[in-house]
Amino acid sequence: MLALTLTGLKLRNPLMLAAGIMGTTGGSLKRVAEGGAGAVVTKSIGKEPRRGHSNPSMIEVDSGYLNAMGLPNPSYRDFQGEIERAREAGVPVIASIFGGSTEEFLEIAGALRADAFELNLSCPHACGYGAEIGTRPDLVEEIARAVKSTARSPVWVKLTPNVTDIKSIGLAAQRGGADAVVAINTVRGMAIDIESGYPILGNRFGGLSGRAIKPVAIRCVYDLYEALDIPVIGVGGISDWRDAIEFIMAGARAVEIGSAVGNNINIFSDISSCMREFLVEKEWTLNDIYGMAHEL
Ligand code: FUM
Repeated sequence: MLALTLTGLKLRNPLMLAAGIMGTTGGSLKRVAEGGAGAVVTKSIGKEPRRGHSNPSMIEVDSGYLNAMGLPNPSYRDFQGEIERAREAGVPVIASIFGGSTEEFLEIAGALRADAFELNLSCPHACGYGAEIGTRPDLVEEIARAVKSTARSPVWVKLTPNVTDIKSIGLAAQRGGADAVVAINTVRGMAIDIESGYPILGNRFGGLSGRAIKPVAIRCVYDLYEALDIPVIGVGGISDWRDAIEFIMAGARAVEIGSAVGNNINIFSDISSCMREFLVEKEWTLNDIYGMAHEL
């Protein structure tokens, strides 16, 4: 009842692990998949190993988390084994990748084997990467086109909400041949310690995730659904089954869950059973509720 095909991938349900949470090792990705996720997305992987920003790199704030991890990762050269281990769980494994140029994206996507690539063009706190590229439609189109022309797997582009018009960035990804867009990455934010007067995060500013950003994400998904022909994957503040349903009604084909996994690793099976019950009670299918909020 919850199974679907997304950019050619067969998913047992529309609930995926978002990049950045439990995605650094094959063992943790496998554990999440065994906990009921329909697919899992790795931590963002780049060309060279990176230590990331100095601590504190993640703090809890009202209704969410602020992070400035700084894209720590072991490099794609040391990551294929983790993807293979995650694959043992039998669900699609999506590699989140980042680069500072089209060439870097091409090098990584050409070397890694994954069921799909999610291009991180949206991290809000890494100099020369992520949103610094992903706020420019010309670069988004160029990178999507280049990766799509060589990748053997579907290409998804993860978008930043920190723009005036997310539709223009989504359209650029679509023009470049992306198979789907993922909306949204974190919302730029910061917190200050009033005892010292200093910003709390080591990087001073970071990205807000969790419940607080759900309405922002719903609006982005809603707008992208109207503007694009390719599927929109929703992410941002999903904490329970009602949130997942809301994203699908806004126009998400599938959703990713990040921050809430920290409180409940079995959130995927919990949400999928409640979604199933809800759909049975309403006598609706997943397709019936897809984009339902647009029908009025
Ligand atoms: O620093 C990080 O790994 C976060 C990435 C992101 O926000 O996309």
